[in-house]
Amino acid sequence: PSNVAEPYRIKMVEPLVMHSREDRADAIAKAGYNTFLLPSKMCYIDLLTDSGTSAMSDKQWSMMMLGDEAYAGSESFDRLLKSVQDNYGFPYVCPTHQGRGAEHIISRILITPGQYVPGNMYFTTTRYHQEAVGGIFVDVIIDEAHDSTADHPFKGNIDLAKLEKLVAEHGADQIAYVNQAVTVNMAGGQPVSMANIREVHEFCTKHGIIHWSDATRLAENAYFIQQRESGYADKSTADIAKEMMSYFDGLTMSGKKDCLVNIGGFLAMRDEEILIKAREWVVVFEGMPSYGGMAGRDMDAMAVGLEEALDDHYLEHRIGQVRYLGERLLEAGVPIVTPIGGHAVFLDAKRFLPHIPQTQFPAQALAAALFVESGVRAMERGIISAGRNKAGEHNMPKLEMVRLTIPRRVYTDRHMDVVADAVIALYAKRDEILGLEFVYEPPSLRFFTSRFTPI
Ligand code: F0G
Repeated sequence: PSNVAEPYRIKMVEPLVMHSREDRADAIAKAGYNTFLLPSKMCYIDLLTDSGTSAMSDKQWSMMMLGDEAYAGSESFDRLLKSVQDNYGFPYVCPTHQGRGAEHIISRILITPGQYVPGNMYFTTTRYHQEAVGGIFVDVIIDEAHDSTADHPFKGNIDLAKLEKLVAEHGADQIAYVNQAVTVNMAGGQPVSMANIREVHEFCTKHGIIHWSDATRLAENAYFIQQRESGYADKSTADIAKEMMSYFDGLTMSGKKDCLVNIGGFLAMRDEEILIKAREWVVVFEGMPSYGGMAGRDMDAMAVGLEEALDDHYLEHRIGQVRYLGERLLEAGVPIVTPIGGHAVFLDAKRFLPHIPQTQFPAQALAAALFVESGVRAMERGIISAGRNKAGEHNMPKLEMVRLTIPRRVYTDRHMDVVADAVIALYAKRDEILGLEFVYEPPSLRFFTSRFTPI
């Protein structure tokens, strides 16, 4: 594998700390075998998430100094609004403290209890907020997405037949809205094609259904369209992203990913009525409609970051770095989700640890073992993340994965070699890894805080 060099140079550094294997074993036991509960300074290379972990540019830091911290009418909001208008093409923006703040508000606005909310696979916080207001989430992603080795260039696509069936069964008025994520995190960072976005848009227009996007990783999705979809090779990712967004009625954004900032999010939309309702809710839960839980300086950093993320050279290295790590693992025979996605390499824990049944949480166990082996922190994305159904039983997702999530502009390709070597070494002694059982399980979003012990 090879990759283009980092298209930036390093202006400020944060030292990494390495601990002994003994100290790491001690730390993971204290953390209840949950990598979310580890102190960050125990982690040598932290691949827990790509969320809020980006390095900001010199331009973003300089804009932080110009942040307008006025309670109302902040100029920073005006700059964020203009950047969203210019780059994504939506006229209206309502800031929130992060993505789930936007999901909370749009769920309250668009969902009447008992209505269905189709989406291309679930995301944890998204589905939580849809269900919390009485919506019924329905997965309408193509079948290939649930198969860790199925080869498809746009494994995040919505299956139109599944969507049509749902609408035929219940009627368009029972559909709150269609939520289409670009890319699909839980499928392995898999992209959606422009053709699919267009088809879903046409279908929704025909039936009078609102078509919304979880646009959290839209820049990475735009890069895959440029590389894989015919007719887009000569277009810039900035133009592709704008075309993608032109088909949606609105979006929720977790700015902590493709806006290259440490905190923040927003809703953007075309319909003024939705804007007005969003402003009614945002004052209750987030803050004034001109800051929505963000500091002025954070809005300024975001206004710059969302444009920087749509730079072709940046994206070529970004996606290339993730692919570099994935290809090194594939060469060594380590089971990962393929095709390699945009923000992370996903280890397939079912194939990595075939001796551990899913009810003994193989992905959770693998993430814990990888930390002890190497100090690399990863995240479970399997049965623990999927939670329980109304009857109190585990949801049993087909995908049982450990996510090696790459922060943006933070680690070098040399760090990726360290990670690859560690995973390969662990794979050689995979038989030694034991399953886990719960010691503490919280009622919702259990992956964040639950605790385990080996069995
Ligand atoms: N949508 C997607 C696709 C996400 O990946 C996330 C967050 C959110 C919404 C929620 O945004 O965190 O700003 O409230 N994903 C993080 C992750 C937490 O690690 O995958 P948020």
